[in-house]
Parts: sequence; C-alpha cells; structure tokens
Amino acid sequence: MIRFSKAVNSLRSSEIRDLMGLATRPDIISFAGGMPGNELFPVEDIDEIYNNLELDLKRTAFQYGPTPGYPPLLESLKEYLNKKGMPVNNNKLMITTGSLQAINILAKVFIDPGDTVVTENPCFIGAISAFKSYQANLAGINLDEDGIDIQSLKAFLKKYKSVPPKFIYITPYFHNPAGTLYTEQRKKELILVLKEHGLLLVEDDAYGELYFDEDVRKRVMPMKALYENELTICYTGTFSKILGPGFRLGWMLVPPDIYQKAELVKQSMDACSPNFTQVLANEFLRSGRMEKYILKMREVYRKRKDITAAAIRKYFPPEVTWTEPQGGFYIWLKLPPRIDIMAVLKSSIEKGAVFVIGRTFDPEGRDNSHFRLAYSHTPEDKIEKGIQILGGCLNEALKSLK
Ligand SMILES: Cc1ncc(COP(=O)(O)O)c(C=O)c1O
Repeated sequence: MIRFSKAVNSLRSSEIRDLMGLATRPDIISFAGGMPGNELFPVEDIDEIYNNLELDLKRTAFQYGPTPGYPPLLESLKEYLNKKGMPVNNNKLMITTGSLQAINILAKVFIDPGDTVVTENPCFIGAISAFKSYQANLAGINLDEDGIDIQSLKAFLKKYKSVPPKFIYITPYFHNPAGTLYTEQRKKELILVLKEHGLLLVEDDAYGELYFDEDVRKRVMPMKALYENELTICYTGTFSKILGPGFRLGWMLVPPDIYQKAELVKQSMDACSPNFTQVLANEFLRSGRMEKYILKMREVYRKRKDITAAAIRKYFPPEVTWTEPQGGFYIWLKLPPRIDIMAVLKSSIEKGAVFVIGRTFDPEGRDNSHFRLAYSHTPEDKIEKGIQILGGCLNEALKSLK
C-alpha cells in the first residue's frame, strides 16, 4: 500500500492549476492565471543578449552555479535594489528559483509541524500551499482596502499569546488576489503590533514595481527599507512579473543569520537556480533594459486595467462591488449574498470566459463571496467581450434569486 506523508495529504489541489488547463483552450477568454501576456515578453532583447555573449559565458550559462546565485547577477541586483533604497549592505541577498522558492525556503527555515503562521485573508495560493506543506496552521486575518485589519490581528495575537505564531506573511503592494496597496498609516500600525509581539515579518513584493501612477510610487517603498531597524524582516522579490516567469528567478533579502540557514535549505532543494537564465537576467539588468521594460509594462497593465474597469462598469450588476487597483495584475470583486459562484464560473466557462473563485485564496477554504479577475494576460481586444460574458452570467444568477 502506498502511504503518503501527512504533509502531502494536507494539501488540496489548486483550483487555479486545474483552471490553467482551460485557460489555454484557444476559444476561452481567460482572466484566470496571474501571469504576463506572452506577447509582452522581451524576446528580441533576450535573443540579442544571448547571441552576443562570449563563448565562455555561454558555457557558464549551461553549468551549475553557486547556491546563493550567479555572482555577477547578485552584484547587479544588489545595485538595483540599493537604488530603490533597500538595505542591501546589512543583509544578504540570495537568488532563488522564483520567489515561491524563497517563500518555501523561509517556511522550511521557520516552521515545525503544528506551528502557526499568520497570513492575510485572502492570501497568495502558492504561499498557502508552501506553509501547509510544512504542516503549519494558518491564521488568515482579513484584509480591508488599506491593508491587514489591525484590530483582528491584535485580537488574534492576544488570544494566542501563549503559542505565538512563527511569522506573519503579507503582500503589501498590489496584493494577489485583492489588488490592495497598503497605506503608510496601516504599515506603521502593523509595525507597532509586530514590534510589541516580537513577530518576524515576511514581506512579499512580487508586484511593487508595477504601479500605474507616479503618485503611488512612495507607497510601494518596501517595509524592509522603511523599518529595517525596528523589526526583523525577510523580503522576497521576483523577476517573474517584470521579465518572465519562465526565467524562474526570484530573490530574498534577509539578515545574515537567516541567510545561513536558508542557504543550507536551498542546497538540499535544487543546489542552484538556473545559471542559464541568471546569465541572461544579469545582462538584461546591467544593460539598463530592465528600467525601460518596466516603464512599458506599467503602461500596458494600466491600459488593460482601464479597459477591464470600464467593461465591468458597463456589464456587471451594481450589486457586485470592487475597488480599482493602482497597480499589479488583479481586480478582486465581492458578490451579493446567496450567489453560487461555482455555478457562475461553470456557466461562464461554457460561454467562453474563465476567472478564479475566492475560495482558492482563503487559507481556510471557505470564502464563497469573492472572485478574482487577472487582466494582465488578456489581450486588449478580448477583454470587453470576456467581461460581457461574465456580466451576463452574474446578471442571470442575480435574476434567479428574485
Ligand atoms: C504574491 C505572489 N508572490 C509570489 C509569487 C511567486 O512568483 P514566482 O515564484 O514566479 O517568483 C506570485 C506569483 O503569482 C505571487 O502572486
């Protein structure tokens, strides 16, 4: 008889992953996967970079590399993060295989079976799965428009004072799935609570570069940069949303003692992240292409968000509520009571549009009143049609209640 581990038995299959299969059907208009559009990737730049590499460097790209990362990329990334105001000198930087691996490594470094981890509710599904795979108990604290709900967090930490959580994991900048951008005030309040309880912060900054307006630029300044001296913060970032997920490159910036443990864990996971893409990413960064590419992507995603938002206003019933995001990939919508979101999803798929239901992002798997639309990879000329289909299904579902 096959006997699976308790850890793997505690994982549920991700609805996102199941839906990804549908998202690739050519006739479906997909608002499902949180990924960049294929047509946006800087293919010509990468062609040029590879073709102009010296033979020795091409060979290096094929080889294994050091566990913490390809040294020239570590240097260029350090410079890049330093320019953003990140405390790169008091911390250590490690390249990881996507930032999901950074989250996974930190989970392994800190979690013993039965430990509690605090997350936001909703929460990035990859992080939920990573924490569960180490048999953590997840405590999801509600998010509102300004960030994590401080009163609920305080109440939770007070109630469980005798068994404090190992860490708190948050995504303060254009949250996946909620699109939320934390206010300065909320960040300050959060830091006060975390300091009082001596709680470690894992700050996931997958989307912070993708703001739509210069006036929110200040608000994407990482807590790692602002509050480095007040609290232990492990910061994670990724090339996935600003270059391409296929590179499978992310990073963590953490204090040296945590870095030491993380390096040991990474050694046992994959020895090193792909040298091939590290060489290419390094040249992309070093040549100044990254800044230009991100500028272009901010415009593209802003336009996609605008088209999606206009179509939602036109086709969705007013009972469905949502907040317009100021960056990132996602719009998070709330349904009126008693709507069966699974039924809406099914009929929407039949008619040709797919999205992700809120339950996927609930650490306790209970939410029935939200859904997520990702506009990042939907071609501009298909967005309105897709939203119209979905709006039709939502209107039908509402009518059937009356
Ligand atoms: C909030 C958040 N963090 C981390 C990741 C992980 O991305 P990657 O492993 O590709 O760097 C994602 C991907 O969707 C995400 O949405």
